[in-house]
Amino acid sequence: MEAVVAVAVAVAVVETKPVPAREPLRSLGVGLGYRPVHRDEIFAHRSSIDFFEIVADHYFSASPPKLAELDLLKSNFPLIPHGLALSIGSADGIDQRYLRDFQCVVDAVRPAWCSDHIAFTRAGGIDIGHLTPLPKTSASLRVIRDNLRRVQDCITTPLLLENITESIRYPEDEYTDAEFLGRICDENDVGLLLDVTNLYINSVNYRFDALEVVRRLPKDRIVQLHFVGGRMEEGRWVDSHDTTTQDEIWQLLEAVLSLAPVKGVILERDEKIPPLKDLIPELERARDLYRHAIPA
Ligand SMILES: [Fe+2]
Repeated sequence: MEAVVAVAVAVAVVETKPVPAREPLRSLGVGLGYRPVHRDEIFAHRSSIDFFEIVADHYFSASPPKLAELDLLKSNFPLIPHGLALSIGSADGIDQRYLRDFQCVVDAVRPAWCSDHIAFTRAGGIDIGHLTPLPKTSASLRVIRDNLRRVQDCITTPLLLENITESIRYPEDEYTDAEFLGRICDENDVGLLLDVTNLYINSVNYRFDALEVVRRLPKDRIVQLHFVGGRMEEGRWVDSHDTTTQDEIWQLLEAVLSLAPVKGVILERDEKIPPLKDLIPELERARDLYRHAIPA
């Protein structure tokens, strides 16, 4: 009986031990989503690129040339691994092989943080092949919480989750955009990768005030931003990632920077990728906004 009491006391002591506070994340500045087509140009524009975001999936079980590319990048720039298919919203859990591969890239890069999306890309064991939005419900929050625990057991690097563009919205939604994003961050101790373009596109397509969403978010959770131009197709905005950033998106980016202590901003150009020199004006404009908002 005494032994049982002693164990119970020991457990109580362990449980009351304070959790060490996380180190504050350092500011990385303004950078670019790395695309291999730019590899030969990056050093000619080094002073315009504070850091690169890399697609983590491109370095899973990497070939020697891809490993050499990763080495070259990490020797010269801070890198942030960005996953595409962690599928944090999958009700059937996290794919352990994907998680191990993602963890290998994070371990290789030793980044300030890493990221993936608030979405599911897999259901019933089948890969859907694209980011699918979740219903904004307490059931989704439970799935995300359980999956994040498994991720955070493996990856101790701070994780950010990104808002996506929503091809559909669900009638059973229980929370507003701000409530859902805020709860995910606060209940799981994760940061937000706020894709300003995705927020803008959703706000136009579903008729809500994007800036009001930002005002209602927990500001300290907004760690990184994405931005890029989108496109209007058949009366709806789509996240085409294939054009220069529109004025409305610049205005929202500037507003977010004035409200939140953002640590990094990434231009995320994925389609119709021009030479790197043609993206420099957008990087410099973003850097001016970033420096104006966050002088330190
Ligand atoms: Fe994004």
